[in-house]
Amino acid sequence: MHFMNKTIFAVAASLLACAAWAETVVTIDAAKPGAVINKNVYGQFAEHLGTGIYEGMWVGPDSPIPNTKGWRNDVVDALKELHVPLVRWPGGCFADEYHWREGIGPRKDRPVKVNTMWGGVEEPNSVGTHEFFDLVELLGADAYVNGNLGTGSNQEMAEWLEYMTSNTKSGLAELRRKNGRDKPFKVAYFAVGNEAWGCGGNMTPAHYTNLYKTATTFLKAPHDNRPKFIASGGNDHDLTWTSTLSKEVKGNIDGISFHYYTIPTGKWEVKGAATGFGEGEWISTVKNTLAIDKMIANNVKVLDQNDPQKKIGFMVDEWGTWYDVEKGTNSGFLYQQNSLRDAVVAALNFNIFHNYAERVRMTNIAQMVNVLQAMILTDKDKMLKTPTYHAYHMYVPFQDATTLPVAIKDNASYKLGNTAVPQVSASAARGKDGKVYLALVNTNPNKETEVTVNVAGGKAGAVQGSVLTADAMDAHNTFAQPEAVKPVPFTAQAKGGKLSVKLPAKSVVVVNVE
Ligand code: AHR
Repeated sequence: MHFMNKTIFAVAASLLACAAWAETVVTIDAAKPGAVINKNVYGQFAEHLGTGIYEGMWVGPDSPIPNTKGWRNDVVDALKELHVPLVRWPGGCFADEYHWREGIGPRKDRPVKVNTMWGGVEEPNSVGTHEFFDLVELLGADAYVNGNLGTGSNQEMAEWLEYMTSNTKSGLAELRRKNGRDKPFKVAYFAVGNEAWGCGGNMTPAHYTNLYKTATTFLKAPHDNRPKFIASGGNDHDLTWTSTLSKEVKGNIDGISFHYYTIPTGKWEVKGAATGFGEGEWISTVKNTLAIDKMIANNVKVLDQNDPQKKIGFMVDEWGTWYDVEKGTNSGFLYQQNSLRDAVVAALNFNIFHNYAERVRMTNIAQMVNVLQAMILTDKDKMLKTPTYHAYHMYVPFQDATTLPVAIKDNASYKLGNTAVPQVSASAARGKDGKVYLALVNTNPNKETEVTVNVAGGKAGAVQGSVLTADAMDAHNTFAQPEAVKPVPFTAQAKGGKLSVKLPAKSVVVVNVE
């Protein structure tokens, strides 16, 4: 071998050896607190879609399934453990076909209509404004109401807002009282339409921007009960919605929405299955979900140019996995299983959202029960908590916590074929209880990885919390085995001044660092 070749070979070999030996080091800078993670980043979405509301949550007051004001107790109790901060309703695409007056007054008198958006099934209008507020009040959550711009009118939206928020003796406030509610409802957010680029009316950004400005001119509410107004924004890599709205709308805009769904194949026609997938679809799912990082970064850059005072939030009000529907189910119901992969997806997204906490002030996973990446699945009187539910539960300490910078050194790549993704994802914050919390994800489904945890300028003596993992990539809970995937306690102690944490393959770990 030529001398030069030999040297190159030796250097390359030693570099490879170093890379193989280098241990990933996660350093938390507890002395440099950043932005607060708005608890609404952990918001949920409940649409009139499939069994997401009817059956999944609403059974009606006369049902043999134990319920409070028609909402099933088992589901509400489970959701309460997640400290759900915010619920978006009634859609989604459904919102632009929803007429609020059809959902008030005695339930027996409400008109039945066809849910032309989802499955062509009958929509009984049994869940309307009052029932929705019963739900959020049972959960202790805030309300995010999505107005109808598509088939509604400015008058219809303005009157709905007055009906919900007015404390006067106006005809609409009196109608609300007649329907059983004296005190105004608290509307935290009100959106003008949904996906205006698609199901909300196939509009251009410029056309929608004008409609938004006009609509918000007439959306009035008492100053102590004024919702934050959300404009319907873009999706995926399209920046034109954020740029047009943030440039053209000068007031009455508190947030621009954004939607991104993680599809294993990246193709809407054949998305990939929720379970029974191979490693190729594991890694493509991880890669596709991580793509949201760049999308948020690009939108935030546009907002920073057009809104340097940071008045406008970037609201990811729909996100999550979207798979092919389960065989034998109505294709318009978007019912899918939920596996360990979904929990990993959720945790990766949380870690990304935390990094943009200054702008990303609200997100709503799609959706809460029985639809897409759900927290809960139900079958008649049975219910189960999905792996995604457990990820939300593990991350509760991050709600309203203060972000802390995290540096990851020597992060290995997890590779399959031509695809590579970072093996470890990390996020840290100081919780409202004063404790430092660290979330770690190991994206590698085959290998555990050892991570050294440091606290800059201090010591990390131990960690304790919980870990979520399983043997199979598609491990999931069923009604026969509802606890096959659930978190278990996790601890690690420093030895000789070094705190090493072993992350099992394909795992989510959330700990408090002592
Ligand atoms: O979450 C399901 C649907 O996805 C929503 O109704 C719509 O906004 C989006 O396209």
